[in-house]
Amino acid sequence: MKEKVRVGVIGAGAIGLHHSRSLAHHIQGAELASVADPDPEAARRAAALAPQAAATTDHRALLADPHIDAVIIASPNDTHALLIEEASKAGKHVFCEKPLALDLPSADAALAAVSKSGVKLQVGFQRRFDPGFRKARGVIQEGELGQVELIVSTTRDPKPPSLEFMRRSGGLFSDTLIHDLDCVRFLSGLEAVAVYATASTMFLPGGAEEGFVDTAVTSLRLETGALAVITNSLRAAYGYEVATEALGEKGKVTVGQEQQTGVRRYGADGVWNDHVDHFLDRFRDAYLAELAHFIECVASDRQPEVSGEDGRAALVLALLAARSFREGRPLSVDEASQR
Ligand SMILES: NC(=O)c1ccc[n+]([C@@H]2O[C@H](COP(=O)([O-])OP(=O)(O)OC[C@H]3O[C@@H](n4cnc5c(N)ncnc54)[C@H](O)[C@@H]3O)[C@@H](O)[C@H]2O)c1
Repeated sequence: MKEKVRVGVIGAGAIGLHHSRSLAHHIQGAELASVADPDPEAARRAAALAPQAAATTDHRALLADPHIDAVIIASPNDTHALLIEEASKAGKHVFCEKPLALDLPSADAALAAVSKSGVKLQVGFQRRFDPGFRKARGVIQEGELGQVELIVSTTRDPKPPSLEFMRRSGGLFSDTLIHDLDCVRFLSGLEAVAVYATASTMFLPGGAEEGFVDTAVTSLRLETGALAVITNSLRAAYGYEVATEALGEKGKVTVGQEQQTGVRRYGADGVWNDHVDHFLDRFRDAYLAELAHFIECVASDRQPEVSGEDGRAALVLALLAARSFREGRPLSVDEASQR
C-alpha cells in the first residue's frame, strides 16, 4: 500500500479546481503535487491550494516529473484522448473527466496506450459514486423491481455554455447525454442494442449556424427489449436537474435530489423551496467519492470500478445518438462499436 499518491492536475478550470481542492484538503492518502494549465493564473490558483504544489503552463513538464504517480485530466474534451496517451506513456495512472474522447479511433488509441503501459484508468462518471444512484442500482440488481422495463433519465443545465466551450466539448451528445448513457448502463447492467435521437436548437445563440443543439430526446433499446428515454436540455430557469426513474414489474425506483437545503416555506401564497443550481452542489459527495476511489485504487494496486471500457461504451452510444439525429433514423449499436 502506497502511503501517499502524488497527483498532478491537468486543466484547472471549474472542475479541475474543484478536484485540486479535494486532493489538497479532503482525500487522505493524496497529495496535490502539480497543476498544469495553459492559463498561468488558473494553474497558480489551483496550485496555491497546497503548499508543496508546483504550477506550470506545460503539461509535459508535469508528466516528466518522476515524483508524480497519477494525473487528473480536467482539460477540454478535445484534449482527453491525447493526454491519456501521453500520461500512460509517462507511466502515470489516469483519472480522466468524461468523455474519454470525441471519436472512436482516438478512444481506442488512448485505451491501447493504457493497456500497453499497464497504468490504471478511471473515467469521471461521478453518478456511479452518488449515494442515490448507488442505492438505486442496488435495488435493481437485487431484483426488487423484477425485470427492468423502462428507464427515464433527464439532465438539465441551468444555462448553456459558450459557443467556444461547445466547439471543444463536441456538443450536447458527447458532453451531457454521455452521463445519462452511462447511468442507464450502470443502473440496469444492460447494454443498448439500438439508438434513436432527435434534437433541436431552441435558444443557444449562434448554435444553429454551427450545428450545435441545446435540446434532445434520445431513446435506447436495451438487450432485453427494455427501453430507455433520455431528455437533455442546456437551459432550465429553475437550476440544475438530474432525475432518473427505473420501472419494473414490481415497482419503480427514482433518483433526484432537487433541493439545495431541504428547507420548505409554507405560506398563504403557496409552498416554496430552493433548488440545486450547480453540478458542483448536486454531486459534491460523488465527486469526492470518485476521486477517493481512484486514489485508493492507485495506492492499493486495484482496478477502478469505472473502466476505460465503460468510457468507450458510453462514447459509442453518444456518437451514435448524434449520428441518428443527423440521419433522422434509428441505428443499431453492433456495427458502430466494432474495434
Ligand atoms: N463529471 C462532470 O460532472 C463534469 C462537470 C464539469 C466538467 N466536466 C469535464 O471536465 C473538463 C473540464 O471542464 P470545465 O467545466 O472545468 O471547463 P473549463 O473551461 O472551466 O476549464 C478547462 C480548463 O482547461 C484549460 N485547458 C485548455 N486547454 C488545455 C490543455 N491542452 N491542457 C491543459 N489544460 C487546458 C483551460 O485553460 C481551463 O482552465 C471537461 O472535459 C468536462 O467535460 C465534467
